[in-house]
This record gives sequence, structure tokens and C-alpha cells, in this order.
Amino acid sequence: MAANILFDNLLQEESKAYTAHVELGCGEGNLNASALSRGLNRTFGYDSDERVLQIATDRLPEARFYLCDLTKSPQTVVDKVTELAEGGENVLLTMYFVSDGLEKIRESVLEKCLKHADVVTIGYEVPGWEKHGGVVGGNVLGVEWFVYGKIT
Ligand SMILES: C[S@@+](CC[C@H](N)C(=O)[O-])C[C@H]1O[C@@H](n2cnc3c(N)ncnc32)[C@H](O)[C@@H]1O
Repeated sequence: MAANILFDNLLQEESKAYTAHVELGCGEGNLNASALSRGLNRTFGYDSDERVLQIATDRLPEARFYLCDLTKSPQTVVDKVTELAEGGENVLLTMYFVSDGLEKIRESVLEKCLKHADVVTIGYEVPGWEKHGGVVGGNVLGVEWFVYGKIT
């Protein structure tokens, strides 16, 4: 499964030692499932579609899923990531959105979360974030992902 390949790549760097994972636009929880299967047991998902969230919740009772339109309630995610980081967690934030959706939450969510988490964008390279890494992490089924290191 593509999400497993992504996680195997992300988690192979032991120095990062992520302890919590937040997925934006989690859908049915594919990335949360990969996080759990790779031992990243604190995993959270946000999505605006109630139907897919129910599937994720039924499938992965160990994860926590939240109904949230990120364009309307961006602070919810920022608060969660901040709380985790301030509680000592090393947070990995992933997202797979269409590009215009990502652009809409860039300032309200992404820029703020980057202060507390490494951010991985899937299928979208964030313009101007080269200074935070912007490493092309890999390519699965033609979709590239980009890894950005948190602002320290
Ligand atoms: C391309 S799917 C990715 C699903 C999942 N991450 C995966 O890899 O299987 C994008 C997801 O983003 C969600 N989404 C789109 N706009 C959103 C928004 N404004 N707020 C929250 N979720 C949104 C959709 O409901 C959909 O589940």
C-alpha cells in the first residue's frame, strides 16, 4: 500500500523519532493505519466528510478522528498540534489535499503548524518552503511527497 511505503521512508530516520501523527484530509484513515502499523500509536485525523470519517473511526478505534472543515476551522488543528508539541510529543503532520485546498489553508494552518511539527505534503510542493527542507521524499504511483522540517 502506498501509505505504508511513505511511512517506511518517513520513519526510517531514527533521529526524528516521531511520537505523534496528525493527518489532514485523512479520508478513510489510510495514513493513520500506516502510522499505527509502524508503531506510531498516537495518530489523529481530520476530514470534512462525515461518511469517510465514520469508516475511519470504525476501522481504527485506536486512532482519533475529528470532523472538521479545515478552511472554516483552521485553528482547531493548530491548537491540537501546538498542544501535542508543548506536551513533549515530536509531531509529524501529513496531508494529501488537492493543490487549491492546500493553498487555502497554507497561512492559517500550514505556516503555524510548521512551528511545532515536521510537515509532509503529498502531491503538492509548497512554494517558498525550500528553506525548511522541501526534500522530495519519494514517489508512489506517480505522486510525490515533500518533507519540510519544523522551524526551530
Ligand atoms: C485525496 S483525499 C486523501 C484521503 C487520505 N488522506 C488518503 O490518503 O487516502 C483528500 C481528503 O481531503 C478531504 N478534504 C477536502 N477538503 C477538505 C477540507 N476543507 N477540510 C477537511 N478535509 C478536506 C476530503 O474529504 C478527502 O477525504
